[in-house]
Amino acid sequence: MNTFKRKTILITGASSGIGAAMARQLADPSVTLLLTARSEEQLRARAAEAEMHGAEAHVFPQDLAQPGADATLHEAVTEAGFAPDVLVSNAGFGTLGRFESAPADTYAQMLTLNVTNLTGLARRCLPHMLGAEAGAGILHVASTAAHQPVPHFAVYAASKSYVLHFSQALWAEYRGRGVTVTCLSPGSTRTGFQARAGSEGVAFGPMESAEKVARVGLRALLAGRRVVVSGAGNKAGALGGRLAPRRPLLAVLEHAFRAVL
Ligand SMILES: NC(=O)c1ccc[n+]([C@@H]2O[C@H](COP(=O)([O-])OP(=O)(O)OC[C@H]3O[C@@H](n4cnc5c(N)ncnc54)[C@H](OP(=O)(O)O)[C@@H]3O)[C@@H](O)[C@H]2O)c1
Repeated sequence: MNTFKRKTILITGASSGIGAAMARQLADPSVTLLLTARSEEQLRARAAEAEMHGAEAHVFPQDLAQPGADATLHEAVTEAGFAPDVLVSNAGFGTLGRFESAPADTYAQMLTLNVTNLTGLARRCLPHMLGAEAGAGILHVASTAAHQPVPHFAVYAASKSYVLHFSQALWAEYRGRGVTVTCLSPGSTRTGFQARAGSEGVAFGPMESAEKVARVGLRALLAGRRVVVSGAGNKAGALGGRLAPRRPLLAVLEHAFRAVL
């Protein structure tokens, strides 16, 4: 994949899963990759892989679930002399279970990572993108969980609904101003996400690979698409989630998710 030529690309959650797959697919001699996540060693391994394909790659270890970490990361990137033309906000996590089963602090961290710092990074990166040459853009990673409320995944699904709606509003605001904003909704994808969410073995449909989902997202960004759902079954599920009457839909989802707790 590369019509991201000569771009400086900041990828959050680049140490593993979908973000690491995106870094692999973007790595070529014309791009500069700025990779961030908490795990410095894994980030360095991803950067070394990218450099083997000729890319320039730099790592910026950062815990983006901490308040203000968006500013800290943006400052570090700026001080190192970089200004991203493309921002891929992919870092995120969820917790499956009854609402009362996770600590309030876990939800605060989830919302800081999935919502607040994603918003802050877009805001901080946008001014440079507006003045950049063609091809500037933002790719936000949401989820099929974004397309309807999800009992027993309530905070995560709501945080991803924010990402979906925020991204679409930005798409409309900036599409005439040279910046594309695309929202990628993966369904169940084979990554470290399930272990952290406590949802191992839970998949309402076929599991996709991180490589496939990454490719779908990057192609959609290049094509200037507003929203892309990865996978035909996931597309149908997301459409159903948007159109179905809330009461019966919530009853079905509450039952289905309670059954896998
Ligand atoms: N896998 C799925 O089934 C699925 C489905 C729908 C949506 N998604 C979304 O896809 C995105 C990528 O997840 P994935 O599936 O690739 O899972 P993953 O393999 O667990 O990757 C998550 C990435 O986010 C980073 N991250 C997590 N907490 C962080 C923090 N506090 N600060 C900074 N970075 C943090 C992780 O790195 P460190 O641990 O090194 O910090 C890792 O690089 C997420 O937004 C997720 O919600 C995944």
